[in-house]
Amino acid sequence: MKELKRLVQLNNNTVMPTVAIGVWQSRHETEKAVTYALNHGYRHIDTASVYGNEEAVGKAIKKSNIKRESLFITTKLWNEDIRKGKTREAFEDSLKKLQLDYVDLFLIHWPVEGNEDAYLVMEELYKEGKIKAIGVSNYRKHHLEALLEKTNIVPMVNQIEYNPFIQDDETLEFCRQHHIVVEAWSPLGSGACLAVQEIQDIAQEKRKSTAQIILRWLLQKGIVVLPKSVHERRIIENINLFQFELSDDEMTIMNSLNRNQRTGPNPDRFDF
Ligand code: A2P
Repeated sequence: MKELKRLVQLNNNTVMPTVAIGVWQSRHETEKAVTYALNHGYRHIDTASVYGNEEAVGKAIKKSNIKRESLFITTKLWNEDIRKGKTREAFEDSLKKLQLDYVDLFLIHWPVEGNEDAYLVMEELYKEGKIKAIGVSNYRKHHLEALLEKTNIVPMVNQIEYNPFIQDDETLEFCRQHHIVVEAWSPLGSGACLAVQEIQDIAQEKRKSTAQIILRWLLQKGIVVLPKSVHERRIIENINLFQFELSDDEMTIMNSLNRNQRTGPNPDRFDF
């Protein structure tokens, strides 16, 4: 079996675990979910200021007593703060809520007007050592091209919706060419992809869950996964991805399921 790495090196040599616990929509169950995740070996947590749960994430981290250097914590800059030119203030607020003195990865959440200026402030915070890696989220190829033209540091990460139903391979390929690691949000299509017969057939054959098949497919494509769950059994399942592999034929079947159908907003047409 071809060994898959549990860590990926970003373009500034920072190292990031390839599976994170996502906490979008985890609401009041966030602290519990993050605690389960940390207990079961997750070391990468993906949150955002707009999720309203940075404090809960911070509490779970503190309670875990895990060394800060062993953790990889991502948060994101919200659209209103970008529009108001409040990048530095918003970042400090996130740090305070998380009870941290640095974050491992800070992302522009959506490519709203003013994103390039916000990114330049993030470059400063990065140089000050308050952020170990900087990046973007929900950028399609043309958003990245515009950003690269006006800024100095190539983003280390682009976090996009990517799952069997929405495979934006143009953006994926552009990121590969520029050494930008792609992370998949809603890797399970918020659960919708779990009902696909072709994936269930592969899961049955492999004696794995449908979620595991989808997550392993993404890892084999070199994409970092951020599955969200608040249930301990599923949280365990979603990181248990390294003892099996998909064949080339199975990868081809998964690749063929694209419907260009998003479960979340379209980065070219959102109104928030
Ligand atoms: P829950 O939090 O109740 O476990 P995505 O990460 O694509 O947004 O998908 C998240 C959705 O999929 C949530 O509704 C989550 O529910 C569910 N989910 C997460 N992991 C699994 C799993 N291993 N099996 C079934 N459903 C899952």
